[in-house]
Amino acid sequence: MKDKILKRFQEVFGEADNAKVYFAPGRVNLIGEHTDYNGGHVFPCALTIGTYGAARKRDDNKLRFYSMNFDKLGVIESSLEELKACKEAGWTNYPKGVLWAFEEKGMRIPCGMDLMLYGNIPNGSGLSSSASVEVLTGFILRDFYGFDVSNQDLALIGQYAENHFNKVNCGIMDQFAIAMGKEGHAIFLDTADLSYTYAPIALKGAKIVIACSNKKRGLGDSKYNERRSECEMALEELRKKTEIKSLGELDEDTFEKFQSAIQDDVRRKRAKHAVYENRRTIRAVEALQKNDIAEFGKLMNASHVSLRDDYEVTGTELDTLVEEAWKTEGVIGSRMTGAGFGGCTVSIVKDEAIDSFIEKIGAAYLAKIGYKADFYVVEIGGGPKVL
Ligand code: GLA
Repeated sequence: MKDKILKRFQEVFGEADNAKVYFAPGRVNLIGEHTDYNGGHVFPCALTIGTYGAARKRDDNKLRFYSMNFDKLGVIESSLEELKACKEAGWTNYPKGVLWAFEEKGMRIPCGMDLMLYGNIPNGSGLSSSASVEVLTGFILRDFYGFDVSNQDLALIGQYAENHFNKVNCGIMDQFAIAMGKEGHAIFLDTADLSYTYAPIALKGAKIVIACSNKKRGLGDSKYNERRSECEMALEELRKKTEIKSLGELDEDTFEKFQSAIQDDVRRKRAKHAVYENRRTIRAVEALQKNDIAEFGKLMNASHVSLRDDYEVTGTELDTLVEEAWKTEGVIGSRMTGAGFGGCTVSIVKDEAIDSFIEKIGAAYLAKIGYKADFYVVEIGGGPKVL
């Protein structure tokens, strides 16, 4: 892969001297959805698929970007003086946002760069291709200039860029899962204080299968920000009755006791999801520690039901994939993953059932939705690295 990337870099930018090749993973969240901006827990893992990048410093202020995934766009030029988000800049808003965020945080970028990317995460699939590009860019800048930032800081800088440059009010999960990824492990992260532990995922006789609905979504034009503000309003209403900083502080019983403080049925459902999903995530990790994969699977299924009925972020495509999976032999658990409104599902499937899972669900999806779903049997990989 490294040679292929460098060869293309040379074709695009004239020479590849002094260029280095890097990799940052994508992520999948096993459980704990729409909890990260509610002070709750998440349980994502980094994947072995992700974004490859080749980069070299320039001796002027120019920025030249090229993506093998958007070959038709050619080389997109900008400069360190032009770090503003704009629609026409397309995918380059992600690396530009990170350059901007470093400067905002007082780390001056002394010169421009040539950056080429190649991603093997399906685009807009909800496996965090954008967070992968953000963490990759931060990792490259640290490698170039020796900035004193940890991998956790790279996650926070990526999120800062996403929130303030690209104006998507995302939580910390994606960038954290990518920057802190560990091979064979999922990350049990408490987003209230960023404390975390690594949990080994040893699925004896089963694998993680991702089904991509091919229904494109972008967080910016989705209802993501709307869900977030519904939760914020519900929190304000609950705070009239109980002193809490976030929905993640409530357990189910306390929520039921105070839920009448929320004036609107829709907001009450949103808050209920955030509270119950957080508790489910804690219980799912406990189940895993006891090697109770069946219970883990049941909690995944319950997570989907809640995202479908209370949080209302699934849609026909994701529901079809998941509901077909539930009917399929050898499926331990299945749910949508990521923001929703399109994107992917994640399922735990017994080894011997994987082929029929792909065939059966693929056919049912095509028949009902009218276009194909794609399936990926994935491995849990590590964080960003130099190749
Ligand atoms: C997106 C966001 C995350 C998280 C998920 C939903 O992936 O970027 O911060 O909120 O949606 O769990």
